[in-house]
Amino acid sequence: MILFDSHCHLNDEKFAGDLDEVIKRMQDAGVLLCTTVGSDVETSRQCIRLAEKYPFVFASAGVHPHDAKDVKDDYLSEIDSMLRHPKCVALGEIGLDYYYDYSPRDVQKRVLEEQIELAYIREMPVIFHVRDAHGDMLDILKKRAHRLPKGVIHCCSASAEMVQEYLNLGLYISFAGPVTFKNAAGLLDAARVVPPHRLMIETDSPYLAPVPNRGKRNEPANVYYVMKTFCELHNVPEEVLSNITLRNTLNFYGLPQPEHEFKEGIFPYTNIGF
Ligand code: NI
Repeated sequence: MILFDSHCHLNDEKFAGDLDEVIKRMQDAGVLLCTTVGSDVETSRQCIRLAEKYPFVFASAGVHPHDAKDVKDDYLSEIDSMLRHPKCVALGEIGLDYYYDYSPRDVQKRVLEEQIELAYIREMPVIFHVRDAHGDMLDILKKRAHRLPKGVIHCCSASAEMVQEYLNLGLYISFAGPVTFKNAAGLLDAARVVPPHRLMIETDSPYLAPVPNRGKRNEPANVYYVMKTFCELHNVPEEVLSNITLRNTLNFYGLPQPEHEFKEGIFPYTNIGF
């Protein structure tokens, strides 16, 4: 079984003290791939450095809505140059966050739309962060449905109805630890709507650790528990669900799917880009 943590933040300072042990546990748990996601120019650079260091780590570059208020005039060209890096597989995370409202909403929208356009031009997939803002996000995406890059709604918190609208726009949906929580009934209703070929799983670590590790620091090894929740939801074996989500995630990030290497259990990603 090979798992892909489609969204984590290995660059977070919470991992600074013991990253090598976190990575060892990740590999022991069968989580052989992950994408570490940037949230501004500096963290995106950190993510790319990690991806250069570890063959099984991929990176993304983008400006989170929290940081939209702080962008410099040249931020788009900075992001653009990082997108050219061979281990940078997506633009993100970008989006709207009206729960915290750390950046004014008009600034959040502007920085979001500028980055969507960049992703479209560069043909890069986009990682979307959306909190308490699904209505506005859907408006923005629908408005530019004819110029929409590939995208994923990460750490999905949308209702089943909203998820259906995202699916209609061709987006992938990724779920994190909250699907394992006791009060997750609404989220599970939304999860049921997602067809197998659009489903991705993630930890968003170090945040939002799934049950049974809720409340602790999260880490990529825990993506196993998110996967297990979907096995129970759809009544399918782990082997099937892990394979589906692995293939979706490789597909989403534009990574190769070498059939025979997987079968022989050989890890095929040591040479990507280097
Ligand atoms: Ni995140």
